[in-house]
Amino acid sequence: MLGMPYELEKASGLGFCFGVKRAIGTVERVAQERGGVETLGALVHNPQVMERMAALNVRVVSRLEDVKGKTIVISSHGVGPAIIERMGVMGLEIVDTTCPFVKRAQVAARRLSESGFYTIIYGDVNHPEVRGILGWAGDNGLATLDIEKLKAIVDLPRHLGVLSQTTQIPAHFIEFAKTAVEKAMVKDAEVRVVDTICHDIRDRQASTLELAARSDLMLVIGGRQSANTRHLVGLCQPQAETFLVETAADIVPIWLAGKKHVGITAGASTSDDAIADVWQRLNQLNT
Ligand code: F3S
Repeated sequence: MLGMPYELEKASGLGFCFGVKRAIGTVERVAQERGGVETLGALVHNPQVMERMAALNVRVVSRLEDVKGKTIVISSHGVGPAIIERMGVMGLEIVDTTCPFVKRAQVAARRLSESGFYTIIYGDVNHPEVRGILGWAGDNGLATLDIEKLKAIVDLPRHLGVLSQTTQIPAHFIEFAKTAVEKAMVKDAEVRVVDTICHDIRDRQASTLELAARSDLMLVIGGRQSANTRHLVGLCQPQAETFLVETAADIVPIWLAGKKHVGITAGASTSDDAIADVWQRLNQLNT
């Protein structure tokens, strides 16, 4: 133990979110029935979960050209309509594990596109979920996390839709949407703002923020590539010293020196096992 014992507390509502549980359950069942299956892109952005999947002969392909079998899994992040069409042309059987919250954003984008609206997505343009939503917007839109980029757009279309990547921080989306409305309201504009943030993420962020405000160290467990895990880190940082750990092995004991209240939280694709391992390690270091 490094100094006095610390109090250890978990944020509420940790473990896989509903969308990830559903996707993993479906892929495990299909892989067991067929002796393996291929997924387009990582099913979830968590290396430990993907290792477990690999043991069931789940193979990740990054391009449709690399598919060898007859079945393809769409990940929880979803894809655009052009990819689904190509899968059909290739004669692939599709197992669609797109999270219903992502689907809701896709439907909103499709409706905006059908009504002639230009769609701006508050999200990371390099994230597969955002690329998919942009596809449903009929490629009549853009995605950015940079308010300055939004402000710099000359001649914003009069019919404007504003959506968010499901895992973004709600307060930041509200600020982004306000800027879009202010910028558009200089001519006869019609702006539709759709709240497409996932309910699980909203609750997880709120419970994490509440715990971080009472802690002097926060450990966020999750994949380094996971967008929602990184957002939790960003939320905790102004409140407490914060580190992202993928597994218990990443914990550096010196972080705990002199700490009184240590909080832990986890991304939506972090397994219960990873959380239990970190919890156990922190208890060991506390004795
Ligand atoms: Fe879906 Fe939200 Fe999880 S969008 S995959 S329930 S983080």
